Amino acid sequence: MAERKTVRYAHVAGWGKYVPTKVVTNEDLSKSVDTSDEWIVSRTGIRERRIAASPKETTATMSFEAAKQALEVAGLAPNDLGLIIVATATPEYSFPATACVVQDMLGAENAGAFDLSAGCSGFMYALAMGAQAIASGAQSHVLVIGAETLSRIVNWHDRETCVLFGDGAGAVVLQGSDEPGGVLSTLVRADGSGGELLILPAGGSHQPPTLDTVATGQHYIRMNGREVFRFAARVMDEAARKVVADAGLTLEDVDLFIPHQANLRIIQAAVRALKMPMDKFFVNLDRYGNTSAASIPIALCEAVDAGRIKPGDHLVMVGFGAGLTWAASVILWGVPKPPVPAWRRTLDGLRYVAAGVRSRARRLQRRLGAALFGSPEPRTIDEGASQLEPVTVDKTPLVTAPRAMGEGAPQSEPVASPLPAPVAEPRAE
Ligand code: ACO
Repeated sequence: MAERKTVRYAHVAGWGKYVPTKVVTNEDLSKSVDTSDEWIVSRTGIRERRIAASPKETTATMSFEAAKQALEVAGLAPNDLGLIIVATATPEYSFPATACVVQDMLGAENAGAFDLSAGCSGFMYALAMGAQAIASGAQSHVLVIGAETLSRIVNWHDRETCVLFGDGAGAVVLQGSDEPGGVLSTLVRADGSGGELLILPAGGSHQPPTLDTVATGQHYIRMNGREVFRFAARVMDEAARKVVADAGLTLEDVDLFIPHQANLRIIQAAVRALKMPMDKFFVNLDRYGNTSAASIPIALCEAVDAGRIKPGDHLVMVGFGAGLTWAASVILWGVPKPPVPAWRRTLDGLRYVAAGVRSRARRLQRRLGAALFGSPEPRTIDEGASQLEPVTVDKTPLVTAPRAMGEGAPQSEPVASPLPAPVAEPRAE
């Protein structure tokens, strides 16, 4: 039996983000719902958000862009990855997993891929799972993505939710190393009794989509904002203290907190409860709103870009969200990388083109195989099936018939702009 090497430490070796170019300001929203910049800023701290207005921007395509950057920073190729986890509440489809779509786009031939659903805590859950896969020795390189297209499940006529959310994606590459550091401690928790406080009521097996669920808007986010606020303010403090203690540190050892970017007042409540100075908390929700599972990895990338994180720093990241769920982690930042040479970037670009060609070729091969040879002999299934009652299928489509998964993204029916008509033109980044 091959010897399995146990590596203890999961380091953040690469990071990347993608946000759509379309900016929607509070002023824009005040033209379509009864709200104001003053209300939104004073209650949430949000000034604008990014919206995936193009049908070419989906959870998978945004994940792909963030993942490419993260691999580039890590100096790794897609084939180095053993696992891809996409944390999202807005997957490309119920199935296949968005992570599989991303695996195909990257051409990550050696990777397993799955989605993780834990609301806004999703990225923190996925980070914990990825770090544990590395700590166990099962994996050496794990791509962890948090990505959301919330604009497609937000009711743009509900002022209580539509002002809060935005779209985007962030990714990190975890790399196994014997060098101490990286993810020092993790915490994942849930309280399902609070599930109805933040819910997308219809579209699952509990309430499959029907004309009625669509007519009554049950395919949109429903939220009890006050209760979520109370829950969030409580768990941010508790979770941060627990992971810091588990890492053998004190709060004074923490150089930067990267909290889930939902509401500035929730972050301020955590600042008070932890008795830490506000400047130790990274905040970018003013520009992106709440991007759910994408919020912490996007903030992490921006904190690195802003020079707020340096090797040797201790970071605390805390998320909370639908479930109810909450999760946290302490990271010792480090493992400086040699700069990636220009030829390597060119090679990576070609690699993704090749992955697209390979994916198309495989689809074509399957179609040709089916056309030439038909289905495999279904003997065993036929024998069993003859004893079953025939099933009558109602062929009337309830909603738009899905297209077959085609080549390249986007594979779904183009989604109309999520915003009501009177929204200003996009402001390019
Ligand atoms: N513009 C103007 N008025 C508004 C708006 C708006 N956009 N939204 C609500 N109001 C009104 C309400 O109707 C209410 O009016 P009323 O007093 O006449 O009934 C009034 O403002 C006050 O409403 P509250 O709900 O008390 O406002 P609050 O100060 O609690 O702020 C908010 C609401 C921002 C939603 C807050 O509760 C919050 O941020 N909660 C947490 C939400 C959150 O973080 N969710 C994400 C969780 S993570 C995830 O998994 C997605």
